[in-house]
Amino acid sequence: MNALYIVHEIVKKYTPQGGVAVDATAGRGYDTAFLCDVVGKDGKVYAFDIQESAIASTKQLLDSQGKTATLILDSHANMDKYVKDEVDVVLFNLGYLPHGDHSIYTHYESTKEAITKGLDLLKSGGVMCVSIYYGGDSGYEEKEALLPWLKTLDDSKYQVLATFFHNWKKDPPIPVIILKH
Ligand SMILES: C[S@@+](CC[C@H](N)C(=O)[O-])C[C@H]1O[C@@H](n2cnc3c(N)ncnc32)[C@H](O)[C@@H]1O
Repeated sequence: MNALYIVHEIVKKYTPQGGVAVDATAGRGYDTAFLCDVVGKDGKVYAFDIQESAIASTKQLLDSQGKTATLILDSHANMDKYVKDEVDVVLFNLGYLPHGDHSIYTHYESTKEAITKGLDLLKSGGVMCVSIYYGGDSGYEEKEALLPWLKTLDDSKYQVLATFFHNWKKDPPIPVIILKH
């Protein structure tokens, strides 16, 4: 069991074929490619990243697998400028680009803005998964601010499930699942 497994199982359960998906942190494109599989050829996937190298990696991976997504070189905090559909699923994988520049990573203020916008775009019955990676070069600031803020989301609109690998040592990721009523 790991964070990826939990998130992927939830996404498969809640996302219909032909659905609309947003990967808020494209990185190397593994989640973008996964979302393409989940929504199928009639679906639509948007993927954001602020690093050209991440967008290029994602494009290369998708091309190699014959998949397509709308790749956007911009902050996920601006997702409302690009995504005009109602969406079924939004994924965040916080932290820095694996095998990339560890000084570029997600930050609380823009993540909070992006989560807020993503929740507005989400359909009723849709799901958002935020995997909080922290520690190491990206530190603890984002996680320390995000968890209390997520607790304040209106419980008449959202169910927020934070999952902890409780006995793991050394900064285990925290998958947070948000279901929109
Ligand atoms: C942990 S990686 C994502 C891994 C990715 N899901 C994958 O499958 O490879 C986090 C990514 O978030 C990106 N990022 C950081 N701040 C961002 C922002 N404001 N908007 C969009 N992406 C951002 C980083 O450039 C990095 O590529």
